[in-house]
Amino acid sequence: VHKAEYLEEHETQISSILSGGYAHPLSRQWQQKNRLTKDMFIYPLFVTDDPEEETPISSLPGQKRWGVNKLVPYVDSLVKKGLRSVILFGVPMKEGVKDLEGTAADDPEGPVIQATKALKKAFPDLFVMCDVCLCEYTSHGHCGVLREDGTVIRDTTVRRLAAVAVNYAKAGADCVAPSDMIDGRIHDIKKGLLKAGLAHNVMVMSYTKFSGNLYGPFREAACSAPSHGDRKRYQLPAGGRGLARRALARDLAEGADAVIVKPSTFYLDIVVDAAEICKDVPIATYQVSGEYAMIHAAAEKGVVDLEVMAFEAAYGNLRAGANLLISYFTPDFLEWLDHHH
Ligand code: PBG
Ligand code: ZN
Repeated sequence: VHKAEYLEEHETQISSILSGGYAHPLSRQWQQKNRLTKDMFIYPLFVTDDPEEETPISSLPGQKRWGVNKLVPYVDSLVKKGLRSVILFGVPMKEGVKDLEGTAADDPEGPVIQATKALKKAFPDLFVMCDVCLCEYTSHGHCGVLREDGTVIRDTTVRRLAAVAVNYAKAGADCVAPSDMIDGRIHDIKKGLLKAGLAHNVMVMSYTKFSGNLYGPFREAACSAPSHGDRKRYQLPAGGRGLARRALARDLAEGADAVIVKPSTFYLDIVVDAAEICKDVPIATYQVSGEYAMIHAAAEKGVVDLEVMAFEAAYGNLRAGANLLISYFTPDFLEWLDHHH
């Protein structure tokens, strides 16, 4: 009959023993360099042009498209739980509002400007960010103004994006975050804010954003999938670490006040790079729709536990160097963080 064996005893090295340092729940918390707190979370919200709308988005469990009148009470419930910041995406649904120049992006009666005004009025302390892009508003679904051959006209596009950013700032946005990835837009936005007398009051957060397969649920939610082609000529190639480093350095030089790495968990090397290259500005990561949907799908299948998985992903981002998290899990974290970790 087989018996358990033990090899001979050795003297224990003092440096071998680590477990004493994390035996208690509190000492486990102390092991984190960046602690997960409610004020790190930025909640993405989809705002549509029917003020009474409240429609669940099937591709994004728990998320809805909100009309302005429904948005304010919803945000109120989250502010009461400790929400500090939101980022707004406009989703115009009315027939015929999309055109070649994304005119609806900064329509004073449109969803983003109306929601910004309503939120700042109801919650003056809430940090309201506006995503700046054209794809939700263009008839072709691309993030810029196009030539006949379908390529983006860079200078025209950045001038248009800068106008949109300035109009969001005039409506009261605390921060504008251009997600278009067209070269040179931070420069034009900063100059535009300066000229409008708003540069001292408004943060510019620049995305470093990769092209890939993780934006599908968002494009369904925002009705912003390109009608032809893809975004590979302006969003970075997934393998392009060097390009991302150059984009981070450029955006910083053009005056970005903070940077966002997007997507998040698949790109943590880029977050490490951002923390090094942009060490003097806040670093955000955007856990995008595909990442959120994947965690939900796995939890639904019983493969992972939703809450444990969401915390693990958040810690990965923090370890890499993020200190702000843009996440669809924000409402969940506002509750989870009351109980543990
Ligand atoms: C487009 C934009 C995208 C997202 C936000 N703004 C992606 C895209 O369609 O290229 C994605 C956010 C998400 O997936 O959660 N400017
Ligand atoms: Zn876009």
